[in-house]
Amino acid sequence: MKIVVLSRNPNLYSTQRLMEAGKQRGHEMLVIDHSKCDLVIEKRKPVVLYKGHKLEHVDAVIPRIGASVTFYGTAVVRQFEMMKVFTAIESQALVRSRDKLRSLQILSRAGLGLPKTVFTNYSRNVKDIIKSVGGTPVVIKVLEGTQGLGVVLAETDNAAESVIEAFNGLKARVIVQEYIQESKGADVRAFVVDGVVVGAMKRQAKKGEFRSNLHRGGTAEIIELTEDEENAALKAARVMGLGVAGVDMLQSDHGPLILEVNSSPGLEGIEAATEKDIARSIIRYVERNV
Ligand SMILES: Nc1ncnc2c1ncn2[C@@H]1O[C@H](COP(=O)(O)OP(=O)(O)O)[C@@H](O)[C@H]1O
Ligand SMILES: [Mg+2]
Repeated sequence: MKIVVLSRNPNLYSTQRLMEAGKQRGHEMLVIDHSKCDLVIEKRKPVVLYKGHKLEHVDAVIPRIGASVTFYGTAVVRQFEMMKVFTAIESQALVRSRDKLRSLQILSRAGLGLPKTVFTNYSRNVKDIIKSVGGTPVVIKVLEGTQGLGVVLAETDNAAESVIEAFNGLKARVIVQEYIQESKGADVRAFVVDGVVVGAMKRQAKKGEFRSNLHRGGTAEIIELTEDEENAALKAARVMGLGVAGVDMLQSDHGPLILEVNSSPGLEGIEAATEKDIARSIIRYVERNV
């Protein structure tokens, strides 16, 4: 098969691992920078041009689209869908997963546990917003942030009010969420491929930090999920429509609470923590669908 990894940087760990795993299984692997693709749209002949050349006979794409290029990246994935090329992540699901509010609404409808969250249209009633999630401490998040950037813990009402007002003033949309204290700066990442959890890790924030993102200095170790956690992760990936997903959960005293579902989850942390060949699982998933 000819498999294209859509990635802006061929040197990234995840990209390299997918290339390696694909080649090991006998496939022709290609890294294409989606930001350098041109899309030709005419009657019944959708074409993707890469550096002026037509991309032909592609059997599948594996999108690794960064948050900063969601718009164009999804358009490229959609073009491949028009060409009837299998994609490991559907364009619709990709867009959906990039909007924290929309994601939470979908997860909520599915009956999944979530931290209590409020979203407002730059309301000036900041006190009421804080009250509606049970008072401080609260977590304030910029809607389209990632890697822990734009996620703030406000411990007092004063702090929460100033932060919300500051974001409002910058016209940055935020959600305000109850702070799940008992998770103690840790969260769980379940890596789901095609309806199966292929690896899970617990990430612990560094000292003095509540965000457990590895990009923020967190550390990871392998864990065994409880049945509740596994079911929640699988359901979350399913309702988001993602064949490949990194489901992040907090362990609360009333069960797992889903934080977010990532559509381009990194492979480095999870492969290191679990010592599993997750890239191979993704290639196998593609093979089963082409
Ligand atoms: N409501 C919360 N209660 C406790 N910790 C939280 C909460 N929300 C986020 N965190 C911590 O902050 C980290 C980043 O938040 P997240 O919503 O995943 O944003 P990002 O998309 O930037 O990773 C999480 O992995 C978790 O460790
Ligand atoms: Mg996260």
